Amino acid sequence: TETLREYAGKRHRNIGVAVHNSFFMDGTNEQYLKILKEEFNTVVAENATKPYMMEPERGTFVFSRADKLAGFAEQNGMKMRGHCLVWHKQIPKWMNNDQLSQEELLSVLKEYITTVVGHLKGKVYAWDVVNEAIDENEPDHYRKSVWMKVIGPGYIDSAFVWAHQADPDALLFYNDYGAEAMNAKSDAVYELVKGMKDRGIPIDGVGLQCHFQVGKIDFDGLKKNMQRLEDLGLQTQITELDISIDTGKENAQTLKQQADAYGKLARIWLEDQNCTAFMIWGLSDQYSWIPSFSNNKRGTPLLWDENFNKKPAYYQVLNQL
Ligand code: XIL
Repeated sequence: TETLREYAGKRHRNIGVAVHNSFFMDGTNEQYLKILKEEFNTVVAENATKPYMMEPERGTFVFSRADKLAGFAEQNGMKMRGHCLVWHKQIPKWMNNDQLSQEELLSVLKEYITTVVGHLKGKVYAWDVVNEAIDENEPDHYRKSVWMKVIGPGYIDSAFVWAHQADPDALLFYNDYGAEAMNAKSDAVYELVKGMKDRGIPIDGVGLQCHFQVGKIDFDGLKKNMQRLEDLGLQTQITELDISIDTGKENAQTLKQQADAYGKLARIWLEDQNCTAFMIWGLSDQYSWIPSFSNNKRGTPLLWDENFNKKPAYYQVLNQL
């Protein structure tokens, strides 16, 4: 039978999945690996290439996990996305320190980006350079991360410039959640990336995370937002798609609703050549981050169930391809 990967390959489109922490440990699950290789042509680490993993102690870089995924991708003819260079979460304690001077934190950031992007040069085709920097509720719309507090808004431009210097061929993305459709947050993201384009900063696109809930997706707003980003000369990518169902409400009907939503999103992606990746945030419901993130209020958001059986949502994506 044909797989997502085979169909997407025929159309020259990138379809991918976030790779779970267990991949980086011993005793790899064969079934998991088989699905990964057969169904997807792109991978991203769910956690393993975040700063807390990559530079746990200042000046001590750990490349083994990134190298393992990059090797797997290369062996299997897959592309790799890099996630993520600059974020306010999952950074080591020593880095998340607003007592550092501006000069010091700038040099920490430059060293981090230069080292990590340089090490993976030619292996990671697209980087999420800055993740979740917008907080639309702040008067200036910048989240008050350690980067913002110590360096100021210029950290964003600098991060992209350094990433570009380290790998001029990598595509560079700004990535965020809740900014998929037309709303105050996506307006703020739009203003940010428009300013970057105006200043000549090397940004190639905007990642739309797409952590969605069944019944609450604004498909038309998403398309509009994608269009205005395209009009700025930016690509879009669906970077972290999952569509969760309220706990206790998983039944044939909600699974069908979920499948329809996945199908619609796949259509939006396929009909838009400027939307250059369709990345799902995990493979099996068993390992999804959503239950723990939502205090068990939501779950079952992915294409395979806990036992690696294909769900209706899988077939609905396949049907679009
Ligand atoms: C999540 C992972 O899925 C979890 O395993 C981890 O505990 C927390 O981070 N936005 C992002 C991703 O950009 O990095 C997050 O991933 C989900 C939200």
